Amino acid sequence: MKASIIRKFGDTDVLEYTTIDTPKPASDEVLIKILATGVNRLDHYLREGKMMPNIPFPHILGSDAVGEILEIGVDVNNFEIGERVIPVPGYPMKKEEENINPMTLASSYGIIGAANHGTYAEYIKVPAKFVIKDTTNLSPELIATLPMVAVTGVRAVKEVGEVKKGDKVVVLAGASGTGSFNIQIAKALGAEVLSTTTSDTNIDFIKNLGADVVINSKKEDLISSVQKWTNGKGADVVIDNLGGKFLNQSIELLKPKGILVSMGFVDSPNVSFDVRSLFFKQISIKGSIMGTKEDLEFAIELVKQGKIKPLLDTTLPLSDANKAHDILVNGKVKGNIVLIP
Ligand SMILES: NC(=O)c1ccc[n+]([C@@H]2O[C@H](COP(=O)([O-])OP(=O)(O)OC[C@H]3O[C@@H](n4cnc5c(N)ncnc54)[C@H](OP(=O)(O)O)[C@@H]3O)[C@@H](O)[C@H]2O)c1
Repeated sequence: MKASIIRKFGDTDVLEYTTIDTPKPASDEVLIKILATGVNRLDHYLREGKMMPNIPFPHILGSDAVGEILEIGVDVNNFEIGERVIPVPGYPMKKEEENINPMTLASSYGIIGAANHGTYAEYIKVPAKFVIKDTTNLSPELIATLPMVAVTGVRAVKEVGEVKKGDKVVVLAGASGTGSFNIQIAKALGAEVLSTTTSDTNIDFIKNLGADVVINSKKEDLISSVQKWTNGKGADVVIDNLGGKFLNQSIELLKPKGILVSMGFVDSPNVSFDVRSLFFKQISIKGSIMGTKEDLEFAIELVKQGKIKPLLDTTLPLSDANKAHDILVNGKVKGNIVLIP
């Protein structure tokens, strides 16, 4: 099959479009003919060798895909040849951990394209247990933008943040890959959302995602803006993908017994805060990582109801995976770049 592979870590030119063996599905797996695959920032970090320096080469990047069932393992009985499907972008790699709930807690949990060969290819084999049916009727280009950001958002906002109708939710960095879905999911759950950016050029983009209030945090004080927005009560939930010095501020934004979801570290992975800010207000700080098959199914339902918009930036042929990474590294990508095998 054709695939875009890396044989070493490095700049975007290490992505090589070539021919390699087509995978053979095991008895519990399906072989999927990939119709479109999404490019995530994770792929760029992996390609550079900044994460998982022990990946065996050659390696295929890519976590997001939509495709059609081409072959079915002998023990699989819930799929048909030609059916449109979406692999869950991560799952436990050890069979004995398949039923751990949530599956992201399994010690062998891995992301497709990081823990094993990914989706920058014509075909991929995936355990049937971690494949869902694509019932959206949307184009492959649009669906391929969704899996990773959608499962991450559903887990962080709905499951970990426990966001519900009427909540006032602060979503940091609303124009970011994660933030743009955190906003959409919080709105779909019936919450009111205040979001932030450091650039005026992102304000309309964030408002179009459904945010009720957008603050340029370089020009306006976030703490007083949230106090005003919540009539002095504080936010019910803060979804923090920035970490570092922002986490301190996120604690201050919360109402008593509020929930802070920590899910990223754009500023820094290291934080420092006064523990009294936690226990006086009795707030919870909870971590969230990726998401489950059920989270993906929930996201796809929201897509079908028109409550989540897939965010497609650019479509390129798979042979141009290196160009896609160039755009990601150098450009202002809003949403995902998609590659077509
Ligand atoms: N927990 C999980 O499962 C999970 C999944 C995916 C990603 N992540 C993590 O989440 C974080 C965000 O990833 P992403 O892909 O969404 O990021 P991204 O698309 O690269 O966007 C990051 C955004 O952060 C804002 N920003 C950058 N520097 C800033 C600063 N100094 N102060 C305030 N805002 C700043 C910028 O928005 P403006 O220009 O609008 O200000 C920028 O667009 C990363 O740490 C990533 O590793 C976690």
